[in-house]
Amino acid sequence: MAKLIINREQPKGTIAPEIYGHFSEHLGRCIYEGLYVGEDSEIPNVNGMRTDVVEALKEIKIPVLRWPGGCFADEYHWKDGIGPKENRKKMINTHWGGVLEDNSFGTHEYFELCRQLGCKTYINGNVGSGTVQEMSEWVEYMTFDGVSPMADLRKANGQEKPWKVDYFGVGNENWGCGGNMRPQYYGDLYRRYQTYIRNYNSAEPVKKVCCGANSDDYKWTKDVLATTHEHAQPEFHGFMDGLSLHYYTVPNTWQEKGSATQFTEEEWYKTLKKAMYMDELVTRHGTIMDEYDPEKKIGMIVDEWGCWYDVEPGTNPGFLYQQNSVRDALVAGVTLNIFNKHCDRVKMANIAQTINVLQSVILTEGPDMIKTPTYYVFHMYRHHQGAKLLDSTLSGVEQVGVKEWEVPAVTESVSENEEGIITVTLNNLSADKVQDLEILLNGGEGALEVAEANVVTGQMLACNTFEDPENVTEKPFTEYQVSGNTMKIQMPACSVVELRICSK
Ligand code: AHR
Repeated sequence: MAKLIINREQPKGTIAPEIYGHFSEHLGRCIYEGLYVGEDSEIPNVNGMRTDVVEALKEIKIPVLRWPGGCFADEYHWKDGIGPKENRKKMINTHWGGVLEDNSFGTHEYFELCRQLGCKTYINGNVGSGTVQEMSEWVEYMTFDGVSPMADLRKANGQEKPWKVDYFGVGNENWGCGGNMRPQYYGDLYRRYQTYIRNYNSAEPVKKVCCGANSDDYKWTKDVLATTHEHAQPEFHGFMDGLSLHYYTVPNTWQEKGSATQFTEEEWYKTLKKAMYMDELVTRHGTIMDEYDPEKKIGMIVDEWGCWYDVEPGTNPGFLYQQNSVRDALVAGVTLNIFNKHCDRVKMANIAQTINVLQSVILTEGPDMIKTPTYYVFHMYRHHQGAKLLDSTLSGVEQVGVKEWEVPAVTESVSENEEGIITVTLNNLSADKVQDLEILLNGGEGALEVAEANVVTGQMLACNTFEDPENVTEKPFTEYQVSGNTMKIQMPACSVVELRICSK
């Protein structure tokens, strides 16, 4: 039988709540219809933000929301999205679907959304087609508490006090849609642009995120770090707080990615194996970061991750709308366990994207809203936010798969919160076999007790639809037996399990 040994005595760092972050772009129906319906909508809203969606995101403790893109960020000119809505510029969203962007959701609306969600803010600036002045003025507009042209403009637009910008991204995918740059060129631009992101409030400095690599482009990481570090000032660490990484799990090829809902067992394993590749990416990019930042002061910010499939038949190909199945729940479970285990370096991650785009936690259709299997994984894993990662080791785990697509049947991560409650999150990647696991808790004073146990499971292809919205949900998990400081569990095939245990 496979065995999981947990050592309570050896916490390995703190799991940044931001690892459970989200990303929302002006893309398809993510912002418009998804998050924002406007004040005049018949769909219940507060200041234009959908009430059902805000409530659902609060239930998973959304810690941070990245906006406005994505590729859209490097085409976004923030002044188009402020002031009276009737005067805001209209444009065609050339990148995503060629639809009209009326800029009715802009800076003020974003901060209002984050206020309602109670989450941190992460704004992505425009390097690809924007100027240093434009970026610098945006930061002044948002954060300066005094008399200045931009602060006065903000006040004239109804916001007296500055907002808090927690993170600011200096460009997005500047190796691709953000300007097709070479790493040295971008590295130089990063140095220049970030200089003018002033910290108007030294008590709450804006954390600056440098554009990192796509997938396994280790050269980008190396060259950007070499360029940005050369002749860097001693106060370098105010200069770069994060370096991003983007990685999408695409089952087949970028041309024919594969369906979100119709896939074979081989594709199940292929997808999970590709999702597990995140571990190698974080490790190898992390090793390069260690060369320049051995004290790990620069966070790895995985600000785009998730499954990317073919769009749902009949939908606008530029809207990237896809369904979400138990396979996505497993991808989320596996990936979040990887991030937890690398919490010494990974300081934020943002699943792409919150609603109606790629691996979403929520889908909407007019006034209706459904929570996806991925949503329930975020709900269970919320207990890891801010907790201490514990040392945990799996042994005796079998490999499962089809052809070369083999993966370990079980993955896990374990954390302990301030109240001494230990959260164990486990995935059974097998498409058809129950996994028996023995769990041994070292370092407790008495018998192990189960405070709560939940599971998200279903057939490989199972998903939630507007006709059957609760086909896959989080349910109580009862397949366990406790004896002293050990417990045995039987995890159903295709499942994500959360155990909350303590020892008195
Ligand atoms: O999330 C969709 C797109 O994927 C983003 O706009 C871009 O950054 C990435 O290529």
